[in-house]
Amino acid sequence: MREKDLNALFLDTLKDIYYAEKQIYKSLPKMAKAAQSDQLRAAFEKHHDETEAHIERLEQVFELLDKPARGKKCDAIEGILEEGTEVMEEYEDTPALDAGLLAAAQAVEHYEISRYGTLKSWADKLGMKDAVKPLDETLAEEKKTDETLSKIAVSAVNAEAA
Ligand SMILES: [Fe+2]
Ligand SMILES: [Fe+2]
Repeated sequence: MREKDLNALFLDTLKDIYYAEKQIYKSLPKMAKAAQSDQLRAAFEKHHDETEAHIERLEQVFELLDKPARGKKCDAIEGILEEGTEVMEEYEDTPALDAGLLAAAQAVEHYEISRYGTLKSWADKLGMKDAVKPLDETLAEEKKTDETLSKIAVSAVNAEAA
């Protein structure tokens, strides 16, 4: 692939995840409010704060590229978040609600992990050392969040839903 093409793809993907992070930032308080277990609610609240930092780090990367921070509608995250909304509506006041919220949230994290993993490796390939660091920091937080959600799923929530 020519470098020019990869640069364009990098910027496009950056806009995609920037849009996605902003949507996630709006969704997390709703998910926290819906969560039945205190542990799950706390995890969503913590990640809401982290997501604010993810948005800021992406803005740093736009700045490094000397481009305005602008999102591009991401159909994938729209779909994933829409499924989360459906779970909240359809399983409201049921013992399975938290299990459904966890599954929806993990789908979000997996999407982000995939995007940041790609962006990080492209930044590396393009010689953008200053972009690798913030992308890697966010990637680590997404992975950690996914692990936390897995632990919560294994413990309290699944036991309750059974
Ligand atoms: Fe994020
Ligand atoms: Fe995340």
